[in-house]
Amino acid sequence: MGKVLIIGCGAAGSVVAKKCLQLPMFSHVHVASRTLSKCQTLKADTQDKISISQLDADDTDQVYRTIQEVKPDVVINMALPYQDLSIMKACLKAKVHYVDTANYEPKDEAKFCYKWQWDMHDEFKNAGILALLGSGFDPGVTNVFCAYAKKHYFDEIHEVDIIDCNAGDHGKAFATNFNPEINIREITQRGKYFENGQWIEIDPLSVSKDIDFPEVGLKRAYLIYHEELESLVKHLPHLKRIQFWMTFSQAYITHLDVLQNVGLTRIDPIVFKGQEIIPLEFLKALLPEPSSLAENYTGKTSIGCLISGLSKGQKKEVLIYNVCDHQESYKDVQAQAVSYTTGVPAMIGAKMILEKKWTGSGVFNIEEFDPDPFMEDLMRYGLPYKVQQR
Ligand SMILES: NC(=O)c1ccc[n+]([C@@H]2O[C@H](COP(=O)([O-])OP(=O)(O)OC[C@H]3O[C@@H](n4cnc5c(N)ncnc54)[C@H](OP(=O)(O)O)[C@@H]3O)[C@@H](O)[C@H]2O)c1
Repeated sequence: MGKVLIIGCGAAGSVVAKKCLQLPMFSHVHVASRTLSKCQTLKADTQDKISISQLDADDTDQVYRTIQEVKPDVVINMALPYQDLSIMKACLKAKVHYVDTANYEPKDEAKFCYKWQWDMHDEFKNAGILALLGSGFDPGVTNVFCAYAKKHYFDEIHEVDIIDCNAGDHGKAFATNFNPEINIREITQRGKYFENGQWIEIDPLSVSKDIDFPEVGLKRAYLIYHEELESLVKHLPHLKRIQFWMTFSQAYITHLDVLQNVGLTRIDPIVFKGQEIIPLEFLKALLPEPSSLAENYTGKTSIGCLISGLSKGQKKEVLIYNVCDHQESYKDVQAQAVSYTTGVPAMIGAKMILEKKWTGSGVFNIEEFDPDPFMEDLMRYGLPYKVQQR
């Protein structure tokens, strides 16, 4: 049994709350977020089974005070990457375990990386608490797929291709499946992959190929930099190459090109009618909220890891993947599949800590733990996986 504090009441945070409520082991769920009205809507959706409060998570003292009031056993950060460090600092002060789904990124520079959070390892260790980093789908389940392959299928993993396809249709001309600001910052930055001990940079979306995604078929996927590459390079010692491939429709890319060309994806302030605004924040205000896409979303996501290496001296290839249906996600928790595939693993990560299946003091990436109990829970709680050996 355990109490959980979820910070951030957006598309994925709402999924975490509803999935926690499905499990009696979460004895109480409290959701705190910037806009109280969103928490109130979620509270009503859950027949008043959660408690809520308003919180600006950029303010460590406010987060600390909320932790003191709620007294959670674990905090799940479902706000934005900008809030990671302030929430982690509050968890350290209150000595409470921490879980997130995206690594820290400074607001004024589109450059996410683990350094800032890894640097807090000793403080978490000394405080005797655990910070679980990257417990979403990617990062998250994809890292666990790699740990599972390492444990059960390979002596040495040499190559990993993380392949991420959303073959769904939300019916809008242009929308992002998770927070628009974070999504557009991620995709418009330079691509990067790891090969033979080196990081190789490419122009944004300049490398693409057709990939045959399980259960959804052939789709064009683009090589982009994604945060789990950084931690997997650290934790898979024999790795020679790791790349991340994500699909985008031509319509999405055309819209993004236009938005970039007219300056609407800029993150530096401009003055408009005497007031400073950040164009990307303004664009976010115009775009649909990711949670609003759920009801009419059709189709599936197909995300997995194509892994090759050596087993008992023989070359081997294994594909581990999950396919998630937007409408099935809606039936379960009124969410679309991208929020669902993020929220379910965040709930499972917190569950691993509360059940003491994952223990330790310090800051850890998800692939550092035993993958087996997490994989069992994926099967149980809505994200079943399949393994193909080739
Ligand atoms: N690992 C993965 O697979 C994966 C996949 C998708 C997303 N993610 C991550 O999941 C997180 C949530 O994504 P989402 O799609 O749910 O985004 P979202 O719908 O925009 O939700 C973000 C929520 O955080 C709240 N928030 C923002 N700043 C805050 C602050 N200073 N204090 C308190 N609350 C604050 C927002 O409040 P307002 O309502 O006031 O805006 C909103 O409710 C992001 O960090 C994203 O990068 C991870």
